[in-house]
Amino acid sequence: MRLVILGPPGAGKGTQAEFIINKYSIPHISTGDIFRENIKNGTELGKKAKSYMDKGALVPDQVVIEIVQDRISRDDCKKGFLLDGFPRTVAQAVSLDAELDKLGTKLDRVINIDVDSSILVERAVGRRICKTCGATYHIKFNPPKNEGLCDKDNTALIQRDDDVEETVEKRISVYVNQTVPLLDYYAAQGLLANVDGSKDISIVSEDIVKALEN
Ligand code: AP5
Ligand code: MG
Ligand code: ZN
Repeated sequence: MRLVILGPPGAGKGTQAEFIINKYSIPHISTGDIFRENIKNGTELGKKAKSYMDKGALVPDQVVIEIVQDRISRDDCKKGFLLDGFPRTVAQAVSLDAELDKLGTKLDRVINIDVDSSILVERAVGRRICKTCGATYHIKFNPPKNEGLCDKDNTALIQRDDDVEETVEKRISVYVNQTVPLLDYYAAQGLLANVDGSKDISIVSEDIVKALEN
């Protein structure tokens, strides 16, 4: 299974990715997580990415493309992968097709989590994440068992720096301008599966499985 999961900020890509990679035993490649890991470790890449992410802007294509090219050519991706947050521009999508072509393969499906922008801000602003294991929660829609603590390792949950209302609004407008054109790009290739992301988390997961298995 070579999959891409698309959707606006806060749509539930990361939440559903956790479910999909467990069900299909494939690696989860989130470019946002790769950047956050680099920021945490204070690398040059992290410093560069942070200057764009804090503004809600996209990191330049060339930087992202090189990271993904390297990642998908590793051995653990031979059995498949799930790309989350990449591609985000038509240039990134074209480069991904070219890279997969070089590797003698292609995408199997592109899942689009469709959510009305009116609920995205609440989802992002209420999100809490675990710095230790990467688990995602929501103060209202998916709260941890003990307030403010990760269920898996008891780490204190934190908010992402880009999950403040003003930056979320900016990220949504960047998504509309730069990423929405990918929906036509993948529909034209017959790869696009639209899933209604406004339903409960478990229902969205079921709908994704249905889309992947028909
Ligand atoms: P990235 O980390 O990819 O962020 P994003 O695309 O803005 O998406 P999010 O992670 O915010 O949302 P999500 O869809 O994963 O939602 P989640 O499952 O967490 O990118 C961050 C930045 O990095 C970018 O702005 C850019 O600067 C840079 N970057 C990354 N990739 C790049 C690229 N390819 N090119 C250039 N720059 C790049 O869910 C959100 C919340 O809602 C959670 O609290 C969750 O619990 C809750 N929730 C989920 N599903 C439901 C549901 N069905 N009902 C109720 N609540 C729900
Ligand atoms: Mg995410
Ligand atoms: Zn944790």
